[in-house]
Amino acid sequence: MLVAIDGPAGAGKSTVARAVARELHFTYLASGAMYRCVALLSLAMPASEPAALARAARIELGERVLLDGRDVTEEIRTPEASEAASRVAADPGVREALVAKQRELIAGGDWVAEGRDIGTVVAPDAELKVFLTANPEERARRRAVELGADSATVLAEQALRDERDTTRSHSPLQAAPGAVVLDTTGMGVEQVVARIASLARDRAG
Ligand code: DC
Repeated sequence: MLVAIDGPAGAGKSTVARAVARELHFTYLASGAMYRCVALLSLAMPASEPAALARAARIELGERVLLDGRDVTEEIRTPEASEAASRVAADPGVREALVAKQRELIAGGDWVAEGRDIGTVVAPDAELKVFLTANPEERARRRAVELGADSATVLAEQALRDERDTTRSHSPLQAAPGAVVLDTTGMGVEQVVARIASLARDRAG
């Protein structure tokens, strides 16, 4: 079974998806980490075509994120990597390569996969599709706490990334047909996790 969780940055996707996976005993897939890995490669090798880097990259996701055998768990979370990830994610060739890698992974077993296009592109047939959102101020506040940064700066950068992620011509961020839209503004993590786990149990029959 596959639970697809999509939504904008700061909606709580990774915290929620990880907790739902633990609760259901499914494996967790953070697809954004793949885009972040390609971003690191692209920053290190600016002359190379990002799509070629994406195709060749050996990305292992688990407790730690390994890129071509190197632990990049912390490096992929820097503001530079976030910015570059949003840029490479707009490249159709990069998306094609990473979607193929994601489909290969989720072909076997039970998964909670989280990203921007899991329900729309990677796995439109997912048994449960959830679109997590929250108002921009709340999302920025959550990210600011997480990053130890100033909330107004995060809000401004977030607006730019939201704009790019929702208006790119290839796989723009949007709720998939049939997705359950969950606005988590003012909701606790426990509450969101319980709701999704309960929906998943219902869908599993
Ligand atoms: O979820 P995240 O912040 O780690 O994602 C990093 C970037 O990758 C972000 O700009 C959105 C993009 N992304 C995407 O386009 N498609 C996905 N399935 C996951 C992430």
